[in-house]
Amino acid sequence: MSKRTKFMAANWKMNMPADASDIISAAGEAAADSGCEAVICAPFVYLSEVATLCKNTGVSFGAQNCHEKPAGAYTGEISAPMLADIGAEYVILGHSERRAYFGESDALINSKLGAALAAGLKVILCVGETLEEREAGKTCDVTRAALLGALDGIDGGEFANIVLAYEPVWAIGTGKTASAEQANEVCKDLRDALRERYGDAADDTRVLYGGSMNEKNVAELLAAGDIDGGLIGSAALDAQKFAAVIRAARP
Ligand code: PGA
Repeated sequence: MSKRTKFMAANWKMNMPADASDIISAAGEAAADSGCEAVICAPFVYLSEVATLCKNTGVSFGAQNCHEKPAGAYTGEISAPMLADIGAEYVILGHSERRAYFGESDALINSKLGAALAAGLKVILCVGETLEEREAGKTCDVTRAALLGALDGIDGGEFANIVLAYEPVWAIGTGKTASAEQANEVCKDLRDALRERYGDAADDTRVLYGGSMNEKNVAELLAAGDIDGGLIGSAALDAQKFAAVIRAARP
């Protein structure tokens, strides 16, 4: 029997919802009901505000990126120790929007991952294929390569602080969701890749699905077996929808 607690993370991207306080308190109540872990990943400048809003709600918070160096002459950047300093628990790394719009490579993501873990942060590591890659039958090759590239040099102990997110690029922000079968197949393959590398510890790793997950499709995705939660964009900007997604994680 797996020890994997269900996990639902909001990725607010470059948005700060006016009703952030309502979203966080609704998420906290829903998470208490369903026994799920809930996390809000907010833009850097609002993290302190989100930290205050999360107090006593049971909801934790994190960032959506960090720099790979701890400090120094990197104008405009934010480091992992800075995030830890303000109490952030998580950081999202390897999101496809960062790969596509900011040119982040597996090697850079690997450096950021090392920096985040060294600072005591937990990492939500994202991998996913484009539509062209899926249609060419390369989905699992692409997701495995991104996973193993990001984890290069990361040992079994550190690996316990990573949550994985399978996010097909074609499903993000498009309203198109991978079917439960498609999503589960890749989540299972990622866990198999982890098992080959880290042994049975892989059975304790949460593997999330992300890409237009919402209150309507969440139950079917979670029922598939290898999907332990979600990384949620649009639906996490709405208090009712996000709470409903979290409630669906009840065992
Ligand atoms: P979406 O975003 O739920 O709006 O598709 C998910 C993500 O990008 O993490």
